[in-house]
Amino acid sequence: MSNKYNGSNHDAYKAQETILDVLPEHEKSKIADDDHATTGHEWDGIREFDKPIPRWWLWTYYLSIIFSIGYVIAYPAIPLVNDYTKGLLNWSSRDAVASEISVAKLAQSKYVSALRAASFDDINSNEELRIFAIEGGKSAYAVNCIQCHASGAVGSVGYPNLIDDEWLWGGKLEDIYTTISHGIRFEEDDDTRFSEMPAFLTDELLEKPEIIQVADYVRAFSGLKHDAASAAAGATVFADNCASCHGDDGKGDQEQGAPDLTDAVWLYGSTKETIIKTISNSRKGVMPAWAHRLDDTIIKQLTMFIHSRGGGQ
Ligand code: HEC
Ligand code: HEC
Repeated sequence: MSNKYNGSNHDAYKAQETILDVLPEHEKSKIADDDHATTGHEWDGIREFDKPIPRWWLWTYYLSIIFSIGYVIAYPAIPLVNDYTKGLLNWSSRDAVASEISVAKLAQSKYVSALRAASFDDINSNEELRIFAIEGGKSAYAVNCIQCHASGAVGSVGYPNLIDDEWLWGGKLEDIYTTISHGIRFEEDDDTRFSEMPAFLTDELLEKPEIIQVADYVRAFSGLKHDAASAAAGATVFADNCASCHGDDGKGDQEQGAPDLTDAVWLYGSTKETIIKTISNSRKGVMPAWAHRLDDTIIKQLTMFIHSRGGGQ
């Protein structure tokens, strides 16, 4: 037991001694031999080793203090009651975003104004403009059209697939442009595309058995399973009631938005029950008009996008 203790507190000295007494011999020698420098502080006989924190840590600490003082001076930092400290650089994240946006807008503006003046032929003959239009149309589609026509424009029951070759109202650029601008059966728009298949049962134009016959005849068009005798009777019903819109051969009429009934593409479904339901009650699908909501350049972009997705004529 060394005698480095100052001995001013005799009881503490005593207590220390007692602890050391109960330690096993090898532990005791560890403590006794420990020659670490101490700070000279001592409490109840317990000495405080002098082990400073590492230099590198200390310097990192000082540097971060210097950095934060600099930051607080240069940048917005401290919230005040109604305001905040602005910092010498007068920087703000809002301004930074605004300037990024204006740079992007500037970069776009030459395309947007070119697009405004361009016909579809002009757009198609300028590769840069064409790509700009299609890309813009793609994002406008994701915001405005996806909820009805589905992602990838593949459509769903009642909402036409826009990337196949089958068009209700036409797949030329001008047709698509008109459809998007004015909508379909969208009565708030005076130029909306309009046609209405009668509800043959509800409007009492046909009897139930005739509807079943003509449904068989419709299924025969695309080679679906059907009752031949019933379909033969349905041919007359079709010629009298349906051919005016769907054509004598059932190939449809884009002037009236009447679908081709001979292809394998179905807007509402091809089961006999579904076809009977369509004929009995009609459907009257509505597509909103966009001319009042979207800028004309965006409608052009949408048109280019839809047309480019494959099925455009
Ligand atoms: C509220 C649902 C809805 C939204 C939103 C919608 N559509 Fe439609 N769209 C329809 C329906 C329903 C039809 C089919 C109408 C019919 O039966 O003739 C249609 C038809 C079309 C057609 C005609 C397809 C053809 O075969 O001739 C085009 C093109 C079209 N939509 C493009 C768009 C674009 C582009 C947007 C986004 C700007 C859009 N639609 C948003 C419901 C919608
Ligand atoms: C005035 C024109 C008109 C007449 C007449 C008409 N249709 Fe239609 N038909 C349409 C239109 C337009 C649609 C598109 C559906 C919609 O969204 O309203 C359609 C849709 C259909 C469909 C759904 C096709 C699909 O892809 O799901 C069937 C089936 C059909 N018609 C059968 C008939 C039959 C059978 C008759 C005669 C009994 C008939 N239509 C008479 C205009 C007509």
